[in-house]
Amino acid sequence: TGANGELVAELRASPASAEIVRGMKTPILAYNGMSPGPCFVAREGDLVRITLVNAIPGQESTIHWHGMPVPAEQDGNPMNPVTSGERRTYEFRLPEGSAGSYWYHPHPHKFTAEQVYRGLAGAFIVKPRGEDPVPAAFGDTPLFFTDMRLASDATMPASTPVDLMNGRQGDFVLVNGAYKPELSLEAGTRRRFRLYNALNAGYLRISFGGIKFALIGSDGGLLEAPVADMTEVLLAPAERAEVLVPFDGSQRSVTVQSLTYDRGWMGPGAPSAAAVDLMTISVTGSAAASIPPLPSKLRAIADLGASTITKRFVFGETIKMGGPGGMSMTFLINGKVFEPGRIDETMKVGQPEIWEIVNPTDMDHPFHIHGTQFQVIDTEKSGTRVAAPFKAWKDTVNVASKETVRIKIVQDMPGDRMYHCHILEHEHLGMMGTLRAG
Ligand code: C2O
Ligand code: CU
Ligand code: CU
Repeated sequence: TGANGELVAELRASPASAEIVRGMKTPILAYNGMSPGPCFVAREGDLVRITLVNAIPGQESTIHWHGMPVPAEQDGNPMNPVTSGERRTYEFRLPEGSAGSYWYHPHPHKFTAEQVYRGLAGAFIVKPRGEDPVPAAFGDTPLFFTDMRLASDATMPASTPVDLMNGRQGDFVLVNGAYKPELSLEAGTRRRFRLYNALNAGYLRISFGGIKFALIGSDGGLLEAPVADMTEVLLAPAERAEVLVPFDGSQRSVTVQSLTYDRGWMGPGAPSAAAVDLMTISVTGSAAASIPPLPSKLRAIADLGASTITKRFVFGETIKMGGPGGMSMTFLINGKVFEPGRIDETMKVGQPEIWEIVNPTDMDHPFHIHGTQFQVIDTEKSGTRVAAPFKAWKDTVNVASKETVRIKIVQDMPGDRMYHCHILEHEHLGMMGTLRAG
């Protein structure tokens, strides 16, 4: 961020190489040579001007500002592609109240999944204009999780039908681009982490070696108050969480893990049921050090107002065995496969609606909508309805198999927005629609 509240940058998307396996080269796609791309930090009120240079041979691209309140034509939707060899500048101002943990990734028609699993994604943090309710002494560390599937020569194989059906999962889960990195901390601190699930399809059920931590934020920024004594947090693809983790020195080496989670798997090649080690935190200094207290309050979260309009979105799938590729699959919302240019839903700007997202399938699907943050009302499974335990701003919510999730949503800006499953292979195979707000 410059002195006058502007963030100006260029992101060049191009082929690059990374060393994931020691001594071997993996061809990837990168922003400015890095995967993940640079972590942007801006403040509410800032003007953002970021130029995408598409140096990806033979493919369109865009930059989508996942979760951010950006005008529709600046949001990198598939209908606004940047062709290979071209550039375009995205420009938007960050409104008051937008502080949160966002990210950016490509969203071109038919290439989103591939460009993301090849390495194109990065964090975008918006800080409050006024005082941050979280003490600066707690730090502010993004942990941006991605994954890669590599063949024995460390290159990325093409996706198989099983990858398309379940979403492509990698065997290397990376933290800020590194495989099983180590972090060293002083005992007697509480640390603020922003956890990002930027995997194409993998779920993360994150634990900090059993340490009880506080959840303080969701996709769209801070909660009203910390939720204390958590031992794990589940993040579906595209979801984020902010946590405060105490390190008192009683554990010298803390392994951050993703615990096993059954999201419903079809066909062979289900991921192993063992927990996955993500990174190690070594804690130095005196044992049993005292920890500074949690903030008691964070900020107020507004109610979205009464609503008389309810829309229903029902997931579906068709899977046919046989045929040329051995199998053909589509993933559906309300019985339809995505079609560019078709408007599936309309909505009045400023008018809250209730959306009921129904998942009768055997797999979980994380539902995401562009351009706004919504609030979860409740979740229903086998006739039992459970109200959301606390207020939170979300742009992505997991809808588990056989579950119905109700959300309340408002669009503040006009224009066409995508809503889709954030298992990117499902989005690719049709699980997406277009909403026109006006
Ligand atoms: Cu993360 Cu349609 O986006
Ligand atoms: Cu998005
Ligand atoms: Cu899905």
